[in-house]
Amino acid sequence: MTGGAGFVGAHLTRALLAAGAEVIVIDDLSTGAVANLAGLPVRLVVGSVTDRATVEEVCTGVDSIVHLAARPSVERSLLDPMATHAVNATGTLTVLDVAQRDETHVVVVSSSSVYGAGGTLPRTEDAPCRPRSPYAASKLAAEGYALSYQAGFGLPVLAVRLFNVFGPYQSVGHPYAAVVPTFIEAALSGRPLTVHGDGRQTRDFTYVADVAGMLCDAALRRLSHPHPVNIAFGTRTDLLTMIGQLERLLGRSLPVRHDAPRSGDVRDSQASTETMRALFPDAAGLDLASALEATLAWYLDRGTETTGTGSAAATGSAAATGSAAGTGSAAGTGTSDESAAGSVV
Ligand SMILES: NC(=O)c1ccc[n+]([C@@H]2O[C@H](COP(=O)([O-])OP(=O)(O)OC[C@H]3O[C@@H](n4cnc5c(N)ncnc54)[C@H](O)[C@@H]3O)[C@@H](O)[C@H]2O)c1
Repeated sequence: MTGGAGFVGAHLTRALLAAGAEVIVIDDLSTGAVANLAGLPVRLVVGSVTDRATVEEVCTGVDSIVHLAARPSVERSLLDPMATHAVNATGTLTVLDVAQRDETHVVVVSSSSVYGAGGTLPRTEDAPCRPRSPYAASKLAAEGYALSYQAGFGLPVLAVRLFNVFGPYQSVGHPYAAVVPTFIEAALSGRPLTVHGDGRQTRDFTYVADVAGMLCDAALRRLSHPHPVNIAFGTRTDLLTMIGQLERLLGRSLPVRHDAPRSGDVRDSQASTETMRALFPDAAGLDLASALEATLAWYLDRGTETTGTGSAAATGSAAATGSAAGTGSAAGTGTSDESAAGSVV
């Protein structure tokens, strides 16, 4: 698994281990954290997917690669498009090119942001893609490379488009944090919730355990498909409704502060679920209220300290030992040091 020390990776690792799989993670800890994998019997190689030698070392002899590693955030990509491209597009190409040597199955994780603005809802996978940010463009490139390796080399590949995933382990407390943990953190700290725009923008919020379940299934079955596949349950919730749900769970009203809309954001998002339901007939999504309740409970349990990008929690407790490349720490530094390869937890 690439990017396995991140939010989705934390859940997928647990799902794969529960299914009896052996898991190797490559992660540069730029937004992930060793703490997310603390106590789990996994091998963590600290390195970048842009470093071909490390990817080759990690991916040799594996049955399937789930490629989660990415430089997330629309906003971040507008600040530094080249860095986003290097990890999300070139990094994906590197993983595919290494996989192709041994015909290793790959799940490439893309994003609903590829659809961009306009068009009809729900989004069917064959809808036009009009990326509105370098992040979205890099994800479209990533899935394009994946499907081209399938068409051109016969590589077994599944390209999935995740929508707005939320749940425990999602990083918070940094400028690029996702909306659900940001709302929860503000609510638990007694601060107003910042809403960009009027709050009527809609998202197909998806609970992370449901996503991890499908990714796990895809890896174990070495599932492939000739086209991208939406992974979401076709719901459509606006941000003010989401805040209302949080108010019900917390039993108090939450003050809201409206800010300017963010550049690059799409207005509405909702998945067509037909392909997903055909490929994962047993997949069931937890309802929003229960999923939010479980998420809230997790943040309440751990307190509201920040996690992820540039955060204290990224310097997790699992010790790095046996650094193959002679580089030291497995602790997250909040920076993307692409030369830091080889540490093993
Ligand atoms: N969370 C969502 O709502 C969402 C929505 C759409 C798509 N996605 C995609 O799902 C995947 C997982 O996202 P997430 O939410 O878990 O984010 P995340 O930031 O928690 O996880 C990404 C992981 O990749 C690692 N990483 C970054 N650059 C790397 C590099 N060069 N080499 C190795 N590792 C690197 C990070 O350290 C982190 O652990 C990403 O590809 C993301 O684009 C997520």
